[in-house]
Amino acid sequence: MTFAKADRLRQLPPYLFQEIDRLKAELIAQGVDVINLGVGDPDLPTPRHVIEKVQVAVEDPTTHQYPSYSGMNDFRMSVAGWYKRRFGVELDPLDEVVTLIGSKEGIAHLPLAFVNPGDVALAPTPAYPVYHVATMFAGGESYFMPLVRKNNFLPDLDAIPPNVARRAKIMFINYPNNPTGATAERDFYEKVLAFAREYDVIVCHDAAYSEMAFDGYRPMSFLELPGAKDVAIEFHSLSKTYNMTGWRLGFAVGNAKLIEGLGQVKSNIDSGAFNAVQWAGIAALEGNQDCVKEMQRTYQERRDVLIAGLRHVGMEPAIPKATFYVWCPTPPGYTSSAFTSLLLKECGIVTTPGSGFGEPGEGYIRMALTVSKERIAEAVARIQKLSF
Ligand SMILES: Cc1ncc(COP(=O)(O)O)c(C=O)c1O
Repeated sequence: MTFAKADRLRQLPPYLFQEIDRLKAELIAQGVDVINLGVGDPDLPTPRHVIEKVQVAVEDPTTHQYPSYSGMNDFRMSVAGWYKRRFGVELDPLDEVVTLIGSKEGIAHLPLAFVNPGDVALAPTPAYPVYHVATMFAGGESYFMPLVRKNNFLPDLDAIPPNVARRAKIMFINYPNNPTGATAERDFYEKVLAFAREYDVIVCHDAAYSEMAFDGYRPMSFLELPGAKDVAIEFHSLSKTYNMTGWRLGFAVGNAKLIEGLGQVKSNIDSGAFNAVQWAGIAALEGNQDCVKEMQRTYQERRDVLIAGLRHVGMEPAIPKATFYVWCPTPPGYTSSAFTSLLLKECGIVTTPGSGFGEPGEGYIRMALTVSKERIAEAVARIQKLSF
């Protein structure tokens, strides 16, 4: 039996991290002390009050049944309250909020609700791969909007040809941005809103890193713009804000028709997030937010150690105001993959080649601040011994 895979799987972009994974496993087997700056998964624990809430909630048999498809009303009310406190944005918890099994789940399902074969999705590159893959699974075509340093890693909307814009059904944007660490401000969002209105395009803003910001910076929500709710859906995650990647809890908010379409896809595919986890989510969103400040302080310290160390050896990463990623240009003469391999082989440091996130990521590596500042200092010391 051959079990040929469906075309949609065969069309997937190649797995560029395979060689890195192989080398990493080889070095670990040789006993090398590997420092992993490759994966965007917080090393910090979930806050204690959130863990205590889930412990109580799992003892309650009503949480053991199927959850509601669109999420518990209490959780959605809690999200609306958080949005009002955090961004000053009013949301109807029943029509404008849906619970997700992590934001990835929602982002991946959205094109199934709104993209027909032949429709165009405007997607950033380099980027979190899900925007493109989900578009492809829905039969759509991605038109890639390059994120380059000279434009502060914001897409140049004027560079999108009008005939492409007319075919576009959806635009994905993501700020604070993975992998570049870039941030966006009101003037950019205003351009996006005007573009969306002109071409009748859905704006899907992935705001998974909205709370991971430093030096007192507070990223804004796209929905803060008057009229944004006419065109937009915004995705959030408890994964990074509360160190809950394994719990699988996120939410989408915004235009009621978009929320309803996404909910319709979800109700035919999954059966919602575990209610006990949603109770824990309520504890996270409504509880003391000192844990968020602590998370911000921790990554800010790590960022400063890494940036200072890299600058000391003549590398020139921008200082990210948000996200736990440092997007670092490679030294002259090194491609992303070549420099990633050098760091791995010579220093035992795992990083991610920028080219793995899309072609304009060539010439960069992404370093995630997901180890202690002592380990980051150790990584820096190893890099300082290299000659390049
Ligand atoms: C930009 C971006 N969006 C969404 C996600 C998905 O997060 P989750 O599904 O854990 O909410 C990630 C995870 O790394 C991400 O980097």
